[in-house]
Parts: sequence; C-alpha cells; structure tokens
Amino acid sequence: MVGSAIRDRFPVFRDKVYVNSCSQGALSDAVRAAYEEYLDGWDENGAEWEHWVERSEAARAAFAALLGASADDVAIQTSVSAAVSGLVSALQFRGERNRIVISENEFPTIGQIAHAQELRGAEVVQVEPEPEAYAAAIDERTALVASTFVSFRTGAVHDIDAIYGLAREHGALMLVDGYQGIGAVPLGAARAGDVVVGGTVKYLLASAGLSFMALRPGLVEELVPVQTGWFADENVFDMQIERYRPHRSARRFDAGTPPVPNIYAGVAGVGLIAAVGVPAIQAHVRGLVERLVAGLDEIGARVAAPPLGPLVCIRSTDAPALVAAVAEDDVIASERDSNLRVSLHLYNTDEDVDAVLASLARNRALLA
Ligand SMILES: Cc1ncc(COP(=O)(O)O)c(C=O)c1O
Repeated sequence: MVGSAIRDRFPVFRDKVYVNSCSQGALSDAVRAAYEEYLDGWDENGAEWEHWVERSEAARAAFAALLGASADDVAIQTSVSAAVSGLVSALQFRGERNRIVISENEFPTIGQIAHAQELRGAEVVQVEPEPEAYAAAIDERTALVASTFVSFRTGAVHDIDAIYGLAREHGALMLVDGYQGIGAVPLGAARAGDVVVGGTVKYLLASAGLSFMALRPGLVEELVPVQTGWFADENVFDMQIERYRPHRSARRFDAGTPPVPNIYAGVAGVGLIAAVGVPAIQAHVRGLVERLVAGLDEIGARVAAPPLGPLVCIRSTDAPALVAAVAEDDVIASERDSNLRVSLHLYNTDEDVDAVLASLARNRALLA
C-alpha cells in the first residue's frame, strides 16, 4: 500500500503537499497512537522499567530486520552523533594508522566528530564524493572511512559498494551514514559497510531521539567503547559499580536510559515501513522521481546531482526564498546549499509531484 492508499494515515496531507521527508517524515496515526500508548502505560502503571527494556529490544529487532542484521549486532542510540562518537571512542588513532577519510557530502556531525579525534591523534582527509577520490586517499594509514549513503545537500547516492571495497582492501573500517536513505532505499547493513548508522526522524517516519548502529557480524568483539553507560553492561539488572564489563553484543554501545517515548514511536514508524516493504517503497519513489525530473526538465530547472534516490535537489538563486514561495502554494519543502530539497516517500503521489512542478513553474524566477 503506497501513495493514495496509505495517505489518509498521515493527517498533514489534508492541507499540505508534504515533500520534506528528508527533514522529518510525516506523522502517522500509528506513531501518534504509539505515543499515547506510552503515556497511558505511564498513567496506569507508573515506571514500567522492565517493559522499557523489552520495548528497547523490540526496537533493536525492528532495526535488525530492516537492515538484514542480527539483533545482537545492533545498538540503540539517541542520535547518529552519539552512535558515531561511541564508535570512534572504540578506535585508536595512534601510530601509523591514524587517518579518517570523509567526503565533502558528509553530514556536519560526521566531519565534526572526525575533527574532534584530532585531539586524540587522528588526521582527517576530506575528499570529493566519488570512489576515485576515496581511492586516492585510502591507504595503510587509514583507520576509518566515512561515506554518506545519500547526500543531505545534493541528493547524490554514493557508490558505497565501491568505497567499502577500497576500505576493505586497505584494512580500514567503513562507516556508512544511511540516514538519508534507509526506509526508502533497501540497504543490507553487512554488505554496505562495517558500521551503518541512521535514525528514525526521516524515512522511518518517527521522531527525534532514536537512532541505531549496525555492526558487521563479528566486529563487536574487536571494539571496546570508552563512551559507555549502564545499559551497555553485560547485565543491566546487576547494578554493579566494581568494573567495566561491556556486553558481549552490540549492546555494549547502548549507554544510558533508553529514549523510551521515541522507542515507542520508532517501533511504530519502522512497522509502517516494514508492512509496505522497502523494495515496494523504492519502486514507488522511483516512479515519482522520474515524473519530477521529467517535469523539471520541461520548466528548465536544474538538479544538483542525478537523482537516484528519494531526494531531489533543485538549484535555486535563493533557496530560502524559494522554500517560502512554494509554501504559499502549501508545498512543504526545505533547502540546503542553494538547493530546494524535494524528497519523496511512500505517501507521496503523482498529484504531489504535479503540485510541486506547478509551484516551481510559478516561481521560475528563483530557479538557477
Ligand atoms: C545524513 C544525516 N546524518 C545525520 C543526521 C542527524 O544526525 P543526528 O542524529 O546526530 O542529529 C542527519 C539529519 O539531518 C542527516 O541528514
């Protein structure tokens, strides 16, 4: 069920042409009900501590199924920033292998965390987003390679297969930031990279404050994070303060009290995606993107990168003004880097695409 068959579960579409899933997925009846269930449980039972642990495990299982991973290889996180900070806390940047290779398309948090590791001896190398540029930078001095899956600023889909191949060839760890694609484009965690991170705010249709980190099978034993907390302990119910005893599984990257309300929402959001199936969503979105690109061509609009994923970035002379102008037509979009961002998802329809195109045609003066 995609397009008009699912749309009435997302009230925003009553009044708006919502094409902003790259910022935040639309709120569904299911996610609203999940928040209510959390509040009702709080009212009825007070602290449902054991139930929270169970809900955390439900979220872990849902992420694992989505990514084709085992639940033992998935950590529950509150943000991609927390996940990546935990990951790098388990790496050493001393000696010969101290480089982190990132691309210019990385989300700011990735670049900022990489540069923070300079305080621990790391050297950051920033490259253009193509595999050739990564190839020139990755060598035996590389500890970590980071690549976004879909660029938040241009919509470009990175060739993560090729980049992961380069990382493996040189014994470097590969981190994939899948936030801008997971939920709309299939991604098998173990094939994509050593570590895959993402979260629920965008194509997973839930709220801020819940993310995940999936590790390649077998990797967890090699990583001992020093960013930690009691939920990372071998047995959270032990409540011991005598030693650091990280869990044998990826739970060693969990840290403090799980983000319980967001977990309720996240399980519901991922549930909607799983019920439709990511391949079906991808096929639907591809059709919408093709229609959009054809229409953009007709009105003489230019895209920032060939749109191969759900995010189409349209060049503008004044992107904030264009966001405001299309909002006059009830089109909700966003902007980054002189581009209007239009992202399409399971609930969008041909009519949405046509409304975006009509609004852009009216605002042709703001197209670059
Ligand atoms: C590619 C990408 N990575 C990460 C994030 C967010 O990171 P965090 O969960 O740390 O806020 C975003 C959000 O906009 C994003 O687009």
